[in-house]
Amino acid sequence: MSKRYTITAALPYTNGPIHIGHLAGVYVPADIYARYLRLTGNDVAFICGSDEHGVPITIKAKKEGVSPQDIVDKYHAIIKKSFEDFGISLDNYSRTTAKIHHETASEFFTTLYNKGEFIEEVTEQLYDEEANQFLADRFVIGTCPKCGNEESYGDQCEKCGTSHNATDLINPKSAITGNVPTLKQTKHWFLPLDKHEAFLKEWILKGHKKDWKPNVYGQVKSWIDDGLRPRAVTRDLDWGIPVPLPDADGKVLYVWFDAPIGYISATKEWAEREGKDWEPYWKDEDTKLVHFIGKDNIVFHCIIFPAMLKAEGSYILPDNVPANEFLNLEGNKLSTSKNWAVWLPEYLEDFPNQQDVLRYALTANAPETKDNDFTWKDFQARNNNELVAIFGNFINRVVVLTNKYYNGKVPEPIEFSQIDEETLAAVKAYPAVISSSIERYRFREASQELMNLARLGNKYLADEEPWKVIKEDEARTQTIMFVTLQIASALATLSEPFLPFTSDKLIGILNFENNTWNEVSSKDFLLPAGHQIGQAELLFSKIEDETIQKQLDKLEASKKANEAANKTIEPQKEEITFDDFTKLDMRVGTILEAEKMPKAKKLLILKVDTGIDVRTIVSGIAESFTPEEVVGKKVTVLVNLAPRALRGVESQGMILMTETPEGKLVFVNPDDANVNNGLHIS
Ligand code: MF3
Ligand code: ZN
Repeated sequence: MSKRYTITAALPYTNGPIHIGHLAGVYVPADIYARYLRLTGNDVAFICGSDEHGVPITIKAKKEGVSPQDIVDKYHAIIKKSFEDFGISLDNYSRTTAKIHHETASEFFTTLYNKGEFIEEVTEQLYDEEANQFLADRFVIGTCPKCGNEESYGDQCEKCGTSHNATDLINPKSAITGNVPTLKQTKHWFLPLDKHEAFLKEWILKGHKKDWKPNVYGQVKSWIDDGLRPRAVTRDLDWGIPVPLPDADGKVLYVWFDAPIGYISATKEWAEREGKDWEPYWKDEDTKLVHFIGKDNIVFHCIIFPAMLKAEGSYILPDNVPANEFLNLEGNKLSTSKNWAVWLPEYLEDFPNQQDVLRYALTANAPETKDNDFTWKDFQARNNNELVAIFGNFINRVVVLTNKYYNGKVPEPIEFSQIDEETLAAVKAYPAVISSSIERYRFREASQELMNLARLGNKYLADEEPWKVIKEDEARTQTIMFVTLQIASALATLSEPFLPFTSDKLIGILNFENNTWNEVSSKDFLLPAGHQIGQAELLFSKIEDETIQKQLDKLEASKKANEAANKTIEPQKEEITFDDFTKLDMRVGTILEAEKMPKAKKLLILKVDTGIDVRTIVSGIAESFTPEEVVGKKVTVLVNLAPRALRGVESQGMILMTETPEGKLVFVNPDDANVNNGLHIS
């Protein structure tokens, strides 16, 4: 039975590229769902776009010394292209700076305003005197009143997910200047969530929503139980959609007010382009609206946006919000600012034509019920042990043998054995099994069922051994190969939501018009006898250890760079005069000899040619260098330092060194890759 679906994927903030955390949490599951629904004959609008307002964009623009518009233009293009290249089958990827969105969001606000759905109130808000600016959202950091996280933002704590008002923060500090904010009066419009509490309770707690994922349901219930309060939906900021009222200069809509409306504007834009009517996708009770998001977005999609939709009055509410937990990377939290991530554009470059491998690894290990860890080793294992060894291997054997024995023509089956009948029946059961997992938003389970179908194919081949049977029984071989071709063809169709590139390729190899999902069960046979298939092509190839090591090295380098950048540079010492400087007599020298100071871990005794003389210098570098390593090195020597005795050896001068953040000593040579700006010479 065909149904109308509006599927949304969280609008990504346009302040950086997409990484694997976004993909695993939102875009891959949403895409599997959308593709599945299309294959099962439904009417689908799969909608997304760039979230281009909000403080993160302004902060990024400030940091880079460009305008917010420059930032969003740059990342909108990057994100849009990487989604396309990765095969996220969006019907529309719009953006919230689009005219249609400004109009839609303004209209939405105006409707609520005219209906008296807002409270208009002058209140005291946090203000940074030095920056001359109100401190909303990510411009202020403080302690979360609910969980005690000391780095909560003004509008939301990322640790516990709660949304609050900036004035609720304990010990707030400006993220711009670090100052303690003052309070200043300003007028804003508030959505009285408390007024919608009864409805939200009924809708979420008592209603038919008990099939929501427990992580989503539990969070929402706890917030409602804590009591809801009015939330400001406007801000004193200069980047955003102007508040469409006469007395609201310098005020814009709160980004979390405008962004979800972006789903509606993006649907309108798509419908206009396609010559369709957008309204049924948002207003017809028969439409199923599903929001794919990460867990930090739950409050906005399960409380605030539904309250807005309800207040407006003409919209449907989400049927489900299958939020995922977070994905970590090699044991650490993914982080854009720390560059601890696998970035989609880089993946696409490093692994050309291997989109499906990442899709599969992220799905098989998706953070559906708890946070999960992505490791490159697991990625490699999923590819080599499952995609290559099971799926690819099965298809390859079927196609190669069919070409070898029958010049690529599907053979006539002669007589089905009991095993054949059972195998064909088992294949026909797969669409329902996988459907049931997908419809319960269990994409991991679904992907494993798909792999089980390939396993079944492999086992059938291994048991029936057509390469042996062909020597004595032509008729039996024909039947076996006929059965394996039916399995291959079922795999081509059922893999489409998970491995769309592979599915396409396989459909090409098998040379057939794709079946619908249900035809895999309902058709007697998917590939009729006499049908001509094409030549074998590799679907997947083994990923070697070196390839994985390269990725691990990349991460290691980014960890190092990050540590170096975060190491606080020592403050500059007291000013000296030129005369002070000329007192230092520094010369170029060469280390002629070096030996360890007995019983001292750190010290080397060096003989140094300073150009004036050859002298002894005791240097504390033995933990970084062996004596052999330093002999012959050119160094900078402070030659007029008063001599002093170290462990009974008189040291006559000093060799200039610097220390990297990792504690490694390096001879002063600013061209050395380890020597960063600001490192101290001593
Ligand atoms: N930009 C938000 C984030 O990345 C998600 C916005 S979802 C929408 O967390 F509903 F507002 F569109
Ligand atoms: Zn918190």
